[in-house]
Amino acid sequence: MEILVLHGPNLNLLGSREPAVYGATTLAEIDAALLRRAGEAGFGLASFQSNHEGALVDRVQEARSDGTRFILINPAAFTHTSVALRDALAAVALPFIEVHLSNVHRREAFRHHSYFSELAEGVIVGLGASGYRLALEFALERLDGTHN
Ligand code: DQA
Repeated sequence: MEILVLHGPNLNLLGSREPAVYGATTLAEIDAALLRRAGEAGFGLASFQSNHEGALVDRVQEARSDGTRFILINPAAFTHTSVALRDALAAVALPFIEVHLSNVHRREAFRHHSYFSELAEGVIVGLGASGYRLALEFALERLDGTHN
């Protein structure tokens, strides 16, 4: 699987979780759309959600040797807290895009800082579920012509 999509804590509740902030689309719908689009383009895509910081760190470490070439990540609340997850991404040194459904800059001050943004290829905030789709398009463009 060339593309890994990582979802942090509470994103398993998408669809019912604060829909005014995060939208009505469920995580399963987001993942299915990404899988379909990557498949159309001839790439494999794996998604992983966890509420546990260590499980996300473990999954990032696995990406070092499982064929992953690009990561899309919404670290959710860990965006603002997790040096460990940031360090894992730095360690595997794979390019990644940071995605947030909501416009974090329009929200509470504690959401304005991300431990990930300076390492990311790019950051998409505030575009809802479309943000994942747009991030994937960029990843596909990057990987295009480099099929193994
Ligand atoms: C989020 C924004 C974070 O501040 C928040 O903790 C989340 C979701 C987003 O996608 O907008 O859980 O990453």
